[in-house]
Amino acid sequence: MKVLVTGGAGYIGSHTVVELLESGYEVVIVDNFSNSDSSVLDKISMITDKEFIFYEGDVCDKKFLEEIFTNENIDSVIHFAGYKAVGESVEKPLMYYQNNIGSTLNLLEVMEKFGVYNLVFSSSATVYGKPHTLPIKEDFPLSATNPYGYTKLMIEQILKDLSKSNDKWNIVLLRYFNPIGAHESGLIGENPKDIPNNIMPYIMRVATGEYEMVHVFGDDYDTEDGTGVRDYIHVVDLAKGHIKAIDYLNSNGGLGIFNLGTGNGYSVMELIKMTEKVNNVKVPYVVEGRRPGDIASCYADPSLANEKLGWRAEKDIEDMCRDAYRFASKKQ
Ligand code: NAD
Ligand code: UFG
Repeated sequence: MKVLVTGGAGYIGSHTVVELLESGYEVVIVDNFSNSDSSVLDKISMITDKEFIFYEGDVCDKKFLEEIFTNENIDSVIHFAGYKAVGESVEKPLMYYQNNIGSTLNLLEVMEKFGVYNLVFSSSATVYGKPHTLPIKEDFPLSATNPYGYTKLMIEQILKDLSKSNDKWNIVLLRYFNPIGAHESGLIGENPKDIPNNIMPYIMRVATGEYEMVHVFGDDYDTEDGTGVRDYIHVVDLAKGHIKAIDYLNSNGGLGIFNLGTGNGYSVMELIKMTEKVNNVKVPYVVEGRRPGDIASCYADPSLANEKLGWRAEKDIEDMCRDAYRFASKKQ
């Protein structure tokens, strides 16, 4: 069984490629390194000691995609490729709509042309906007507050329409909560090219001494300690969810939508304190005002993924903080 992984050199993609290879799948990666670099490919080989095929190029380039589908006998596709920075999407909306939606439309047309109808798509908890109650279930109302969120909502709609139009399509939308952590080898993990927007990579840069302190965005939320609460999920658990999704595609037709989260919420302060405790490091912080657009709390009800995919997160917050730091301190 051959799986095409777009964005397979990225943070979640690389961990998923490792799990696919270790589960016996043949893997074809396509990436243009717009937010990753080629060293990740060597690391995947070191971890798995398995071979895979790599094509460097842009998923928005249809001819290039057609060449891949002509050369390789693809059974299923996992589509990670896209841009993901919320703030940047507000400044450069066209770039986000072009890359995220353009790449997806291209990919879907080429898949249809080559008769490949199995797709797993990376969606996000961002599609729930400001949830009216917690934990979040898949049938909650959807909304977006920024261009990045709109790209996910629009792609979800495109995939829902496609699945209705032709019952050959088998599609799984995975709505990720907050992926953090790294492979336990310490060889692959999250290493943003610019200043991190997300909390965990920022905490890591402080823990390793690269930055002076974490800026905590608000301590006056209606949460236990006043700081924002999120459903952090270990990236290896998330990657394993994709293997379950591929299995599901092969035995279930139509469209499946699943939350991938742990169901537990942790605050920014808990994350900082846990990083300090398990790694025996100091993480200085300063409390600032709220970040516009942030919500107080967000965590999943992951029971549907448990029931239908046979998946549940196994790693806890200590594992996430330990593994994230192992990777961050190794790459220094
Ligand atoms: P990432 O930036 O680390 O990985 C994306 C990869 O896709 C990168 O290697 C990049 O070079 C590549 N890429 C981007 N555009 C491309 C194109 N047009 N052609 C070829 N390659 C291209 O991001 P990630 O954290 O691994 O996220 C993967 C997916 O999951 C994204 O779609 C993202 O929106 C989604 N997601 C991520 C999070 C998160 O917090 N990390 C949360 C929810 C959803
Ligand atoms: N935070 C800080 N300081 C920082 C960064 C974040 O205090 O420097 C706080 C935020 O206010 C929030 C929490 O840390 O309370 C988590 O923030 P992140 O930016 O790490 O994550 P978000 O939940 O805001 O958003 C992320 C992605 C979205 C995605 C969402 C759900 O950026 O694209 O997770 O998957 F939609």
